[in-house]
Amino acid sequence: MKWDLKEYWNSDANSYSKSIQTLIKSQRAKKAWQNLFTEVLGHGHLNILDVGTGPGIIALLLSDLGHNVTAVDFSDGMLTNARNNALVYNLPVKFEKGDADNLPFPENTFDAVVNRYVLWAITKPENAISEWRRVLKPGGRVMIIDGDWYHNEKSLKRMFWGYLSKLLILATERRYERTCHLDEDVRKELWSVEAIRPKADIELLKNAGFNNIQVMDKINSKTQNLLDYLKNGYSGDTFLETAVK
Ligand SMILES: C[S@@+](CC[C@H](N)C(=O)[O-])C[C@H]1O[C@@H](n2cnc3c(N)ncnc32)[C@H](O)[C@@H]1O
Repeated sequence: MKWDLKEYWNSDANSYSKSIQTLIKSQRAKKAWQNLFTEVLGHGHLNILDVGTGPGIIALLLSDLGHNVTAVDFSDGMLTNARNNALVYNLPVKFEKGDADNLPFPENTFDAVVNRYVLWAITKPENAISEWRRVLKPGGRVMIIDGDWYHNEKSLKRMFWGYLSKLLILATERRYERTCHLDEDVRKELWSVEAIRPKADIELLKNAGFNNIQVMDKINSKTQNLLDYLKNGYSGDTFLETAVK
């Protein structure tokens, strides 16, 4: 199944990179995300690992805050986009190929491990979370941003909002947002389809030995204005979890 997921991310890499450029191009969105990161991680120059970096935009926003950022992804297509984006925005992130549950770093390396919209699609979340803890220094912090994407998946509201979102994206960004579906066989095996989140995540973090677990919900309202929300909010609200090693 991991191989199928890798294929899926490779096929989606270019369009995904285009779809999240506003995060760094729009001063408002950039500031909103960076404020959120500073609220959780504090000021300073931390050694940060971004796991499942995709086109690297989150890693670049952290680098722009002055952090020393390393970023990994298992998809070559995503890493190509990430390296191009780093050149465009002229920011010094180290991108490496790596698997979220088998990271190419020694233990106690990073002050923080972050990831956004990744945990839902990890095949063995318990292995990945243990691995993130392993590479954290004692007292280091994990920050997970994700959503309960499969909740109300079949509702009419969500279906119509999805169509409206495509129209709005076309009108405001001159971009056709294609719907990229995971194969039914792969979906059936994803832990996040049946999980009740973020409750299930808290259990995973506890079982991995993390302390001081905290959850912030409705992250969309902190990072998006009304138009962004109408364009992106149909798949559900996002939450942010932090915990300490
Ligand atoms: C929805 S994208 C999110 C990208 C980025 N974090 C962001 O917020 O824009 C999910 C990313 O996680 C990566 N990914 C998924 N499973 C992974 C794994 N087991 N190891 C490494 N990367 C993984 C995918 O290749 C993809 O780039």
